[in-house]
Amino acid sequence: MIKILLLENVDKITLELLPKNKYSIEYIDHALKKEDLMQKIVNVDIIGIRSKTKLTSEVLKNALSLKLIACFCIGTNQVDLEYCKNNNIQVINSPHPSGRSVAELVISQIISLARCIPVHMNNSNNNIWNKTSKNSFEVRGKTLGIIGYGNVGSQLSTLAEAMGMRVVFYDINPVMGLGNSEKCFNMAELLRVSDFVSIHVPETELTIGLIGQKELSLMKKNSYLLNLSRGSVLDLGHLRNAIDSGHIAGCALDVYPNEPKSNNSNWTNIMQGARNTILTPHIGGSTIEAQKKIAIDIVEKIRNIME
Ligand SMILES: NC(=O)c1ccc[n+]([C@@H]2O[C@H](COP(=O)([O-])OP(=O)(O)OC[C@H]3O[C@@H](n4cnc5c(N)ncnc54)[C@H](O)[C@@H]3O)[C@@H](O)[C@H]2O)c1
Repeated sequence: MIKILLLENVDKITLELLPKNKYSIEYIDHALKKEDLMQKIVNVDIIGIRSKTKLTSEVLKNALSLKLIACFCIGTNQVDLEYCKNNNIQVINSPHPSGRSVAELVISQIISLARCIPVHMNNSNNNIWNKTSKNSFEVRGKTLGIIGYGNVGSQLSTLAEAMGMRVVFYDINPVMGLGNSEKCFNMAELLRVSDFVSIHVPETELTIGLIGQKELSLMKKNSYLLNLSRGSVLDLGHLRNAIDSGHIAGCALDVYPNEPKSNNSNWTNIMQGARNTILTPHIGGSTIEAQKKIAIDIVEKIRNIME
């Protein structure tokens, strides 16, 4: 029997898809404290985690039978990959199934920003009735600039065109545009022509600080910025200045340089209270559908490796 420890409430379809005659499964719906994890990990062949479980070399040294770490999420930052490489432990993750969920959230935010929904909600919650069409627009006919035309960016492109938006994109790799989308040959060109700019790049040496003061100044006056990729790609101090000065008409952020490690943490951010601004706690990929698709993807990978 292959012993597998599943932590952090991974989608329960995992239990149905792993055959009972081959896998002995322990399922725990939360992350374990370090001491408990170090005990539980001793005899297992596989451990399934999400982002809260930190598999440091200190923890992994106790894993005497471990062959595979299955990250039921996009990233593998929570795992000491160097230790795994040196000790023949494979690490798998599932980077793509949540793409559609992110793209749908971006669409909702584009419309919300164009209609000043954060401002209207703020007024309504503060007993102010302010029915106005000032600064409110349809998105049809507006230009969406997508930076990073991979899994999320390309799905967003299709959804945005279905709403009548013109889509332009910039990617460092030679990717083909879907539908009627048009490629920009540099990022500056995209920033100059877009009414909405949405960032969908991975965190790499090239993308850290990708959008700073200079890039924001290239954006059209009264345009909007959305970042649901990684917190490090955007300079929030300069974004706050650009919103406060009225150059940028609004923004939607789902990712931050300072994301708390656990829920219900106290969290402050320079963008809090900014005008026409939507702040969400890294929920782009957090839908029931995405979690299920991630589990199906991971189980397929586990079975391919172990059987
Ligand atoms: N908010 C969330 O919950 C959530 C969920 C899923 C993904 N993400 C993040 O969204 C981002 C995109 O995810 P994805 O699945 O589409 O990734 P992907 O790898 O499929 O696509 C990324 C694209 O960015 C391009 N790229 C890389 N560096 C670039 C640069 N300097 N300039 C322009 N283009 C560049 C790549 O060539 C690629 O086409 C990632 O950072 C991912 O971590 C966030």
